[in-house]
Amino acid sequence: MTILVTGGAGFIGGNFIRHILASPIQKLLDEPIINLDKMTYAGNMISLKDYNDNKGLKTIKGDIGDSNLVLGILNTHSPRAIINFAAETHVDRSLHSPKDFIQTNIVGTHSLLQTTLEWWTLLTVAEQKDFRFIHISTDEVYGSLGKDENPFSEDSRYQPNNPYSASKAASDHLVRAYHQTYGLPVITLHCSNNYGPYQFPEKLIPLMIHRALQGQSLPVYGDGQHIRDWLYVDDNCRAIEMVLQNGQVGETYNIGSQQEIKNIDVVHLICKILDRDCPKQDGSSYQSQITFVKDRLGHDRRYAMNTQKITSSLSWSPHESFETGLEKTIQWVLENAEWTDTMTSGDYRQWIEKQYQE
Ligand code: NAD
Ligand code: TYD
Repeated sequence: MTILVTGGAGFIGGNFIRHILASPIQKLLDEPIINLDKMTYAGNMISLKDYNDNKGLKTIKGDIGDSNLVLGILNTHSPRAIINFAAETHVDRSLHSPKDFIQTNIVGTHSLLQTTLEWWTLLTVAEQKDFRFIHISTDEVYGSLGKDENPFSEDSRYQPNNPYSASKAASDHLVRAYHQTYGLPVITLHCSNNYGPYQFPEKLIPLMIHRALQGQSLPVYGDGQHIRDWLYVDDNCRAIEMVLQNGQVGETYNIGSQQEIKNIDVVHLICKILDRDCPKQDGSSYQSQITFVKDRLGHDRRYAMNTQKITSSLSWSPHESFETGLEKTIQWVLENAEWTDTMTSGDYRQWIEKQYQE
């Protein structure tokens, strides 16, 4: 028995691998993990370097859209589950070049589903029943909430507003269709904005921490009043593990922290923690680096999640408050400068110049 993780050299997939290899249930089951990752700019083996000699993890470099490769992996390892994290994930990049998002998130996910189906069809009835295809999606497929609207539930209408969320919405529909049409045992998870160790410093929280420490401007889009529901990554990983063990086939689950925070408040809190833990030599506050810049195109105003379903059916709830999660994240960044240095060399600089040159 094996678990196949796709995109495990990225942020959430990598945290999930670390979480699962440390989990008591998993230790008992002694199941190896196969990690299939294309190693795009967002995926890097240094995030998993502590596991180089771990017999429980094997990483294969490749594309979820490569059906020969995927079929070979399925035939060789017979996983009891596939957890599909692999995706292009940054909204701002999707505004510049949507093509990669269509290719991996839609075409790639479809290829993964089709290859999985062809392999799954040949399993015994008992093996078919036990198998799970868990698809990791986002709250962004539901679009943007008005300030007085109820948080998104699993029944909220799909209204994606940017190429990233549209491509994730399309992949969700394909996943659903492979269950309804062919009976593939799928579960889809809608996660809110994650943050924590090993997040690529193009997303709000690691970008702001990194730039603050570099003495660079902290670019807040528009008026900074946009709201996100911030979820500490390990809380998300626990939820995914619970769904893997006890989630209902064909269902979708929202995962969020129910902590809605304005972007400007996120940045202020980062500055406050850094002022305390890593004060600037000139005595000034990191807040002096905050600048308001041109807003993102089609910028969703507010995301918020109703997580009653996963709380009542699987007894999941987040352990971290935003303050405790952010403290842990900043501590991790301060102690792992080498990781950020590696991730921000090369292509990263070109992206930052293109995105923030104004
Ligand atoms: P990430 O960008 O950090 O990592 C993505 C990983 O997928 C990388 O390692 C990359 O190399 C790999 N990858 C990309 N294309 C691939 C392909 N064609 N074949 C194989 N591997 C490929 O992303 P993340 O933040 O860890 O997000 C993981 C999943 O969770 C995504 O599906 C994303 O849509 C979803 N999600 C993320 C968040 C968040 O806040 N980060 C929130 C909700 C949902
Ligand atoms: P991001 O981390 O890109 O996640 P998402 O767009 O998937 O929610 O952005 C989170 C919020 O922070 C979003 O409202 C955009 C805003 N933001 C900035 O204000 N400045 C930045 O430099 C970045 C990257 C994001």
